Amino acid sequence: MRIDYTGKKTEKEILAKAKSLERPIKNIDGSLLLKGDNFVALSSLLPFYASKIDLIYIDPPFNTNQTFTVEDERVSTISRKKNATIAYSDQMNPPEYIEFIRERLILLRELLSECGSIYLHIDTKMGHYIKIIMDEIFGIDNFKNDITRIKSNPKNFMRKAYGNQKDVIYFYAKNKDKNIFNNVTIKLDENDKVRMFKKIDKDGRRYNTVPVHAPGETNGKTGSEWHGMLPPSGRHWRTDPAELDKLDELGLIEWSKNNVPRIKKFADEHKGKKIQDIWNYVDPAYPIYPTEKNLKMLEMIIAQSSNDSSIVLDCFAGSGSTLLAAQNLGRKWIGIDQSDVSLKVIRDRLDKVAYEYFEI
Ligand SMILES: C[S@@+](CC[C@H](N)C(=O)[O-])C[C@H]1O[C@@H](n2cnc3c(N)ncnc32)[C@H](O)[C@@H]1O
Repeated sequence: MRIDYTGKKTEKEILAKAKSLERPIKNIDGSLLLKGDNFVALSSLLPFYASKIDLIYIDPPFNTNQTFTVEDERVSTISRKKNATIAYSDQMNPPEYIEFIRERLILLRELLSECGSIYLHIDTKMGHYIKIIMDEIFGIDNFKNDITRIKSNPKNFMRKAYGNQKDVIYFYAKNKDKNIFNNVTIKLDENDKVRMFKKIDKDGRRYNTVPVHAPGETNGKTGSEWHGMLPPSGRHWRTDPAELDKLDELGLIEWSKNNVPRIKKFADEHKGKKIQDIWNYVDPAYPIYPTEKNLKMLEMIIAQSSNDSSIVLDCFAGSGSTLLAAQNLGRKWIGIDQSDVSLKVIRDRLDKVAYEYFEI
């Protein structure tokens, strides 16, 4: 799968350009904040960090044809006023934009470890082109999810179109069989508990029941008699009869009037819901930086796709939400941005944190 456009370089040309732009940089043990163009910064990181980064989250400009500003250096206010300070400008023609992202993605792939993952946050205008570019660079087999992120409350635009409440996140692994994935789950809320666990026992605990048998016949213990019964045809006991006896003694098997046994499952012992590919993480109502993303979303991504010893990288760091989330979870991080406003916000946000900082 390939997408062609004017000005598309070969990978060889891009890697050679990276080599020519490499700047001296130290091998840093801890976290690292770099100010400068991220192509140059990533090129300079490559000699030390190739195949060492477990998690990359990027939220590049979406090619919105806008200039994002903050007012009077006060990063608490976002404004489109003429005299406001420019945080960053987001205006390129589409091929130029696609190539800008592609050049960086090629370097990011080189930095990813074998168990690494990349999450790219984008909107639906450019997203489909970038998905094809990511298939080219990371391999369609390593594509994991196209996540719909609900970014705001419903809108009531006058435009002749449906309200736009979502953007997307493309999630790829460097190697589809090896990516760190910690199976982070979401705790059930009260509504879930009421919906999923309709029964209440004498101690006031919510529960439901599941069959004592599961599909598939076996010849072993789980296919033998229990309480004078064999499992129904085509099924086997969920666990061996001795275990079922134990559950029964503990009162964890409910027998119906017709003597049909079912295993009790309690709401307070539920391990949480698997996270699906529609995420409800709206952006902060009072952002400190234009297009600042939800910190909880970033903490979830980092908990899911990195380990304690992982390095997390964001080369479009903006307000530093990814860096702060990584710091909160005890991970090392590398942040890059070229905007003075961004760097000020990041440094204010991480002022109690140890990291190396330099301009590239
Ligand atoms: C959409 S914002 C990121 C917002 C961030 N995710 C947050 O939560 O605050 C994109 C950022 O990319 C930065 N940026 C754009 N082009 C860049 C480049 N070539 N090198 C470094 N940073 C760049 C901009 O300065 C801007 O801060």
